[in-house]
Amino acid sequence: MIPSSTWTPPIIVGFSELASDVQLFAGLGIESVSAPPTKQWTLSRTSEDQRLTLTRPDGVALCMDFTSGKTRHRTTESGMGVQGLSKALGTKNYLKHNGRYPAIVDATGGLGQDAWGLASLGCEVSIYERHPVVHALLSDALQRACSDEQAASIANRVSVKLVDATEALQPHSTEAYAIYLDPMYPSRRKKASSKKGMQFLHELLGPPPAIDSPDLLEAALTSGAARVAVKRPAGAPLLAGSDSFSGQRTEISTPNTRYDIYHCLA
Ligand SMILES: C[S@@+](CC[C@H](N)C(=O)[O-])C[C@H]1O[C@@H](n2cnc3c(N)ncnc32)[C@H](O)[C@@H]1O
Repeated sequence: MIPSSTWTPPIIVGFSELASDVQLFAGLGIESVSAPPTKQWTLSRTSEDQRLTLTRPDGVALCMDFTSGKTRHRTTESGMGVQGLSKALGTKNYLKHNGRYPAIVDATGGLGQDAWGLASLGCEVSIYERHPVVHALLSDALQRACSDEQAASIANRVSVKLVDATEALQPHSTEAYAIYLDPMYPSRRKKASSKKGMQFLHELLGPPPAIDSPDLLEAALTSGAARVAVKRPAGAPLLAGSDSFSGQRTEISTPNTRYDIYHCLA
């Protein structure tokens, strides 16, 4: 984990071989440079590899892609990797009673992995992401997935908005059945390769605050959704804001992860 005293927001520059990206970079408040920089945080795209990519000064790159690797696997095996989450969100029960999968708001989009898994199952997923660069990477991945023969039907069930969920989730404002929250939590296993993307996000977004704000959970709990599922590492305390909830709360635990489920309409 990066100590909050040593973290400063990275300064990102933009390099692209596509003229249209100048506008994207300007919208993000990122300076466009004419040659690929080294040893600088860079948001880039080449004409050969059309994927928007964020590269750290040490050369490690983050590119979101729903059409390759593990995520592509989810395209062919629906719900793969999100079984616990899907249970926490009550998707099967909803399907049984309504004949279709529920609409879900993933209010903490991040790398979009969970959202994609839920969409591959059949859920309509609205992703909210408040960091402009993370949002740009997600939007780019989604756009490419829309043009991929195998992934398009899933991608069409997903939308992504640049918004702070605490502002977007106004009281009784949502028609989604459930809200999913996976806010940053200090990473305890820095070296685990499966968490590379998450380590990258930690460096981009900064260390999570020592004390969570209760605003996000409170906004989700009053948004009108029937349930709210919060992902926490096993053994972590409940997300701040849980004190204000007087309804039924249950949980689903796996060895590393716990889902706290708030039943709002029970
Ligand atoms: C741990 S990551 C989520 C990972 C995600 N579940 C996945 O499958 O990749 C948390 C993300 O939530 C975003 N976030 C945190 N609080 C938010 C808020 N109030 N509104 C919107 N996005 C938020 C952060 O910017 C970060 O990208």
